[in-house]
Amino acid sequence: MTLQNDLILRTARGEKTERTPVWLMRQAGRVLPEYRAVRNSVSGFIELAQTPELAAEVTIQPVDILGVDAAIIFSDILVIPEAMGLAYEMVEKKGPYFPKTVRSAEDLKQVRKADVHSDLGYVLEAIKITKKELNDRVPLIGFAGAPWTIFSYMVEGAGSKTFSVAKKMLYTDPELSHQLLEMITQSTIDYLNAQVEAGADMLQLFDSWAGILSPEQYRTFALPYISKICDAIDQKVPVTVFAKGAYFVREDLGKLNCNTIGLDWNMDVAESRSLIGNEKVLQGNLDPCALYGSFDDIKSETKKMLDAFGKDKHIANLGHGLYPDLKPDKVKCFIDTVKEYSQR
Ligand code: CP3
Repeated sequence: MTLQNDLILRTARGEKTERTPVWLMRQAGRVLPEYRAVRNSVSGFIELAQTPELAAEVTIQPVDILGVDAAIIFSDILVIPEAMGLAYEMVEKKGPYFPKTVRSAEDLKQVRKADVHSDLGYVLEAIKITKKELNDRVPLIGFAGAPWTIFSYMVEGAGSKTFSVAKKMLYTDPELSHQLLEMITQSTIDYLNAQVEAGADMLQLFDSWAGILSPEQYRTFALPYISKICDAIDQKVPVTVFAKGAYFVREDLGKLNCNTIGLDWNMDVAESRSLIGNEKVLQGNLDPCALYGSFDDIKSETKKMLDAFGKDKHIANLGHGLYPDLKPDKVKCFIDTVKEYSQR
């Protein structure tokens, strides 16, 4: 099995490549009308994610339509809480909602470590189908939420600006917090290893709510679990850690046993490079809102970003996921500019 385009894998391993690889966080299922069409053929997001043939189809859409250098499996970070016993609903225009949460020792007894093969078999099946249908055109990225972000949803029960219910538990019951974080971590390790076994070529951990913790809390409740996961990936596929807003622990991120660190748009590239060190590949980091600008402005912003990172050890991406109302032709302008401008 040889991939026709393995640019992103070679870059992630630290090799010099003919140009900078590019993909986008949330590239599947946000901006494409072709996604909407598939989504409207089922009852909603959850049914789509749980139907492997359709999940594979929308995973491949951005490869065909946008020309990205990698696919990312269509699923959600919230499948882990679900597999642990907390079912979720996706409320139209509002986001995820968990009828049951974990807020006490009694609640913790109601959740279990995920049995990934029985509970998440549909994701593994979607990976297998996607790999077959991609036919080795580009690598497939598997992913999971980082334990702190998953914990936030399991305790809070919904999205939040502050996640104050989840943070409250860190202050009032650190022991219970660690027990839940450990159970999430063990579930996530099994899940990521199963994704690789099913065919994922690289992995990304999303710590979307990293930025709301203090540095000390992040070092106590987030980093040790991410570190455990990085150490426990059995087959050596490249791993990316994206901790949004975690500017205050960049030196620590540089010491993780992973290949790539994702940067958001608040993080200065040169400063990040000096804090993280020269070993790691960096991913990012254009502000997704830059893609609301004119084509000329998108081109110049993208070139500025590429110049800041330099030619080596960079995977081009946005600083966070695409927004649903961005226009596909503007998104494609970003991708095409990376491909043209970064050619050696
Ligand atoms: O291209 C891809 O990345 C598709 C796979 C993917 C989804 N969610 C599909 C999805 C990935 C990698 C995610 C990650 C995810 N999910 C994160 C981490 C990344 C980040 O943005 O910080 C988080 C925090 C979630 C939780 C989540 N899922 C929220 C808050 C929401 C509602 C709002 C939103 O983002 O759309 C979701 C729903 C969701 N996940 C949708 C999709 C395509 C929209 C559902 C729909 O089609 O109606």
